[in-house]
Amino acid sequence: MTGLFSLAIYVLMYTVDPYTPDYQDRLKSPGVMVWPDTYNDEVLEITYNMSDKKNWMKNSKILQKFLEPYNDTTQAQCNHYNCTTGKYFFQHMYNAPKHTKWSCPFYQSTLGNCSGIADPTFGYNTAQPCVIIKMNRVINFLPNNGTGHAPYVNCTVLEGQDNVRGYEYYPVNGTLDLSYFPYYGKLAQPSYVNPLVAVKFDLINQRHAVVQCRVMANNIAYQNIYDPYEGKVVFHLTALS
Ligand SMILES: *[C@@H]1O[C@H](CO)[C@@H](O)[C@H](O)[C@H]1NC(C)=O
Ligand SMILES: *[C@@H]1O[C@H](CO)[C@@H](O)[C@H](O)[C@H]1NC(C)=O
Ligand SMILES: *[C@@H]1O[C@H](CO)[C@@H](O)[C@H](O)[C@H]1NC(C)=O
Ligand SMILES: *[C@@H]1O[C@H](CO)[C@@H](O)[C@H](O)[C@H]1NC(C)=O
Ligand SMILES: *[C@@H]1O[C@H](CO)[C@@H](O)[C@H](O)[C@H]1NC(C)=O
Ligand SMILES: *[C@@H]1O[C@H](CO)[C@@H](O)[C@H](O)[C@H]1NC(C)=O
Ligand SMILES: *[C@@H]1O[C@H](CO)[C@@H](O)[C@H](O)[C@H]1NC(C)=O
Repeated sequence: MTGLFSLAIYVLMYTVDPYTPDYQDRLKSPGVMVWPDTYNDEVLEITYNMSDKKNWMKNSKILQKFLEPYNDTTQAQCNHYNCTTGKYFFQHMYNAPKHTKWSCPFYQSTLGNCSGIADPTFGYNTAQPCVIIKMNRVINFLPNNGTGHAPYVNCTVLEGQDNVRGYEYYPVNGTLDLSYFPYYGKLAQPSYVNPLVAVKFDLINQRHAVVQCRVMANNIAYQNIYDPYEGKVVFHLTALS
């Protein structure tokens, strides 16, 4: 019995390719996060004083730092593969240098008015702040079950509708392009960067709202009471003066 068990372990160990996925027992549904990531008592609060430069600059700095790996020059150097947008990027071989797979570039400039390039404040000196939404990596995860439809971020104002005149997504429609999927793991894709979606809000009146941003795909769960960050993120957004 013990011998058989050892043999099974042996076979298991030797069939595990070190380049394929870090161990994962089942395909999880991805979590969603928001930047600037300022937490306060379990509630995600993005509060800033637009009349106090020292205060609002904290948020701009967090976003500048967060976007450093996405710098256009950096991406053009480390992810120079010509990816085809709108299609899953399946790679069965290790054709990239050092026995790895290619990763698609994600350029900071893709975030347009929320890229921090033309406006390094990211809107925090006004009532039009940008937030950045990121979906966590799940190895081998294919959004929408391989049907070829791209997932997208959909934000809704849960509280304070009167305080939000509108919002815009960057890139348009909040799309997370299919070419960033599937993700094959850290060893296989050392230069992988998560695709991002930025949202620029236009706050008015009391300038306070509770917002939910969900990543929409038919195989992304979002109602897990044990994991409020599965498939979505809820945050309080407040601009003081
Ligand atoms: C915001 O900053 C201004 C300038 O420092 C200050 O006068 C004001 O009291 C601050 N507002 C709040 C709500 O803290
Ligand atoms: C990106 O990196 C280059 C080279 O390091 C630098 O000159 C440029 O200012 C950076 N861009 C942004 C938007 O920070
Ligand atoms: C990528 O594709 C574009 C358009 O097909 C082409 O002009 C460009 O030369 C390609 N770049 C590389 C590095 O292959
Ligand atoms: C970006 O901001 C500029 C200036 O506020 C505005 O004219 C333009 O329409 C915005 N771009 C997009 C894509 O919303
Ligand atoms: C975004 O979510 C809202 C609220 O759940 C829904 O009414 C709306 O249809 C969604 N929009 C898109 C484009 O999925
Ligand atoms: C954005 O969504 C609209 C409405 O669904 C669609 O007509 C448009 O082609 C989309 N734009 C892009 C760039 O995907
Ligand atoms: C996605 O595909 C899996 C396996 O093919 C299937 O079990 C599941 O029901 C599908 N989910 C949806 C929402 O289509």
